Amino acid sequence: MNYDVLIVGTGIAGLYTALNLRDDIRILMITKNSFRDCNSYLAQGGISTSLGLFDEENYFNDTVKAGNYHNDTKAVKLLIKNSIENINTLIKLGVPFDKTKEKLNYTREGGHSEFRIVHVKDETGKSVTETLLNIVSKKRNITMLENTALIDLICKDNTCYGGILRDSHRTYKVNSKFTILATGGIGGIFNSTTNVEYLTGDGLNISLKHNIEIKDMEYLQLHPTVLYEPDVKGKKLLLSESLRGEGGIIVNQNKEVFINPLLPRDIVSTSILNEISKTPTNPYVYLDMTKKSKEFLMYRFPFLYNECLKRGYKMDKDLIPIAPAHHYCMGGIKVDLFSRTSMNNLYAVGEASCTGVHGSNRLASNSLLEALVFAKQASENINSKINEIHYKDIIFESESYALDSYDELINYLKRKVDNKYAKLFNC
Ligand code: SIN
Repeated sequence: MNYDVLIVGTGIAGLYTALNLRDDIRILMITKNSFRDCNSYLAQGGISTSLGLFDEENYFNDTVKAGNYHNDTKAVKLLIKNSIENINTLIKLGVPFDKTKEKLNYTREGGHSEFRIVHVKDETGKSVTETLLNIVSKKRNITMLENTALIDLICKDNTCYGGILRDSHRTYKVNSKFTILATGGIGGIFNSTTNVEYLTGDGLNISLKHNIEIKDMEYLQLHPTVLYEPDVKGKKLLLSESLRGEGGIIVNQNKEVFINPLLPRDIVSTSILNEISKTPTNPYVYLDMTKKSKEFLMYRFPFLYNECLKRGYKMDKDLIPIAPAHHYCMGGIKVDLFSRTSMNNLYAVGEASCTGVHGSNRLASNSLLEALVFAKQASENINSKINEIHYKDIIFESESYALDSYDELINYLKRKVDNKYAKLFNC
């Protein structure tokens, strides 16, 4: 099979890349489960955006301060400069961001000095993904396949020529001029995570095996406010940071406030872990939303209000037990400002990539923005180069496939990450 572009992953980064490619480019998009099994779908809080020229410096400062100044400043500037344009594109495509009197309603999350996060109630990612899926799936130049995994890249002399795919019936080869890894995060390899369980860092694992450059994998992010559910292994219920942006506080077992809930995530998570270590038989603290009315909570956070209710918590009346869990991988496949990896004709976008935007700790709601901005960068770069590239039918010589085992990724992570993560590993 020949396609101009092979996109692996159908979350927001993959979909937005496809949408921004020229209509005369033949695209194959694959996902190893179903289209909605992606972290994008779960994103609750929203998408950060600059509020205008006057806000660019503050937004930059918030991002690099949260990232502990490990950020790539050129990438951060690009992210911020292109933010409004991409939010406007989503609005034109039909994403129904919440508004008050016809003006976008911005919320706030930890580390932001301004209310600058657009949202669709507490299911922003679902709304954006559904809008993009609806449009992309109707495009005649795009073929989309579910239950189809990339198990290896076809590459020679540091150039990518497509991928080896596997579905339930067969393993087959797809030649492509460009290949894009939009394979998402790595939460599926942890015991306690907010991520979709299928997200096992496939793009990273394959990249490691082909010596494609990887960056910043020591920087993993815990989300501070995840429902404490000791009997649930794997994916747990995220309680969006925007709950705190709208007035929620965090209290300990004695119902005392011990941390400003709107500090960056790494600080809030560390403080909670410290507090939890004092009460080992009850290893959780509480999110307290009881100052807000039931009407407000049901209107602004309908998804979370119901999810908590299903588990026996009335958000307006009960304290909700929480503990930090794995949430996001700041590192990934190293890319430049056009989302190009160190292998020719191979790109990476979204959480699988490392643009350097997040430094060592991502500022809340910068992930979907990064996915949009750098997906567009990739598409524009490919649009300008596609006519120069020709297919090459390379013979795939390996006896085994890169994705035959995850040991390499897990061992790599074990060497890289901080001790606090060790106990979250499955292995
Ligand atoms: C949240 O809603 O708290 C998650 C948003 C994010 O990870 O930026």
